[in-house]
Amino acid sequence: MSYAMNDFGKLLDKYIVGMTDETLADRIGTSKVTIYNWRTGKIKRPSRQKVLKCADVLKLTPKQRGDFLKAAGHSSANDEPQQLAIPVVGPPIIQPYQFFGRENILSQIYWAWNKTVPESIAIIGPNRSGKTSLLNYLNNITQATHLRPEQPKGWPNDWLPRSFKFALVDFHDANMHKPETLVTDVLRQLQFKIPQSCNIADFSSIIKQKVSHPTVILMDDIEAGLSASALDTTFWQNMRSLASHGKLSFVVTASEPPVQLAHDGGKTSPFFNILGHTLQLEAFTENEARELLANSPKKFSQEDIDGMLKESGCWPESLQKLCDTRLQKMWLGKNQRRVGKKKRAVGSKKLPQSS
Ligand SMILES: Nc1ncnc2c1ncn2[C@@H]1O[C@H](COP(=O)(O)OP(=O)(O)OP(=O)(O)O)[C@@H](O)[C@H]1O
Ligand SMILES: [Mg+2]
Repeated sequence: MSYAMNDFGKLLDKYIVGMTDETLADRIGTSKVTIYNWRTGKIKRPSRQKVLKCADVLKLTPKQRGDFLKAAGHSSANDEPQQLAIPVVGPPIIQPYQFFGRENILSQIYWAWNKTVPESIAIIGPNRSGKTSLLNYLNNITQATHLRPEQPKGWPNDWLPRSFKFALVDFHDANMHKPETLVTDVLRQLQFKIPQSCNIADFSSIIKQKVSHPTVILMDDIEAGLSASALDTTFWQNMRSLASHGKLSFVVTASEPPVQLAHDGGKTSPFFNILGHTLQLEAFTENEARELLANSPKKFSQEDIDGMLKESGCWPESLQKLCDTRLQKMWLGKNQRRVGKKKRAVGSKKLPQSS
């Protein structure tokens, strides 16, 4: 079925099932009222950027993305204009072509996943080290419509988790602190039919009956999940049981080893014992950091690059910020020179002709 312009609201209504307007609004950085206006057709033509963000959050297939763009009056996803790989300052990386480095971690993930049942993993990293960016990369890489020429990296022979299904749970989202909304959102992402009301028992039986592909739940910031009182021991035990049946695998991020966190928070659930590998996010290697800087829209001098590597310690957030500041300086310098030139030109025209 193809969709004409103005069908955007209808399509959104179809694709959003299982997610509240509020959650979608939070994730794409707009208001609940705007989402309502899109769904009801009061706003018929959201910006291309907003439609693409929506498509990412709703995890649409390339075909669905194309229909979605067309329904909002934009050309299809395949001819998306190439956007800049860097700098990205503030939010986590969402688009795989903006993701750099982490080759070592990705090869360890490959090793853990290239088994009959993918093994569960904990990713530990300090604040702002790139935990969410890594989960977004895992979640989106198989559906990426464009990548940098040297990507993907870290996985052998162009291996990608193509047969895998993923669901991302962001525990910063308060809606994910309630078991019913969490499991409904996971079923929606895995593209299973969602029952009218879904509790943890319904979820477990759907997963046990329906899962036939390697299926990984990516849980971002497990500290926030552990502090949610409604996600009690029963919830974590159910998750563990699904992992033990080989139905689900997990990747959880935290700033400290989760077993320690669960213990400190009084939730000594055996769920955390299923996390076989614990991988530590460190700074980029020098080569990874150089590769990021080499993707700048304006070329930096060797001296500038060396300065940024040293000042950032090769941590990605710091590299991105330094790069942004330098690009801004270059742009301001160029602008001032242009304004200066214009002023001089106007000034010289006004000068009375000397006889
Ligand atoms: N792999 C990467 N490639 C490029 N930039 C990255 C990468 N990882 C992180 N960054 C940069 O670092 C910033 C912080 O990343 P991210 O939000 O993923 O970290 P985090 O560990 O999840 O942070 P928090 O502790 O706030 O949850 C991003 O805004 C981005 O600029
Ligand atoms: Mg994060």
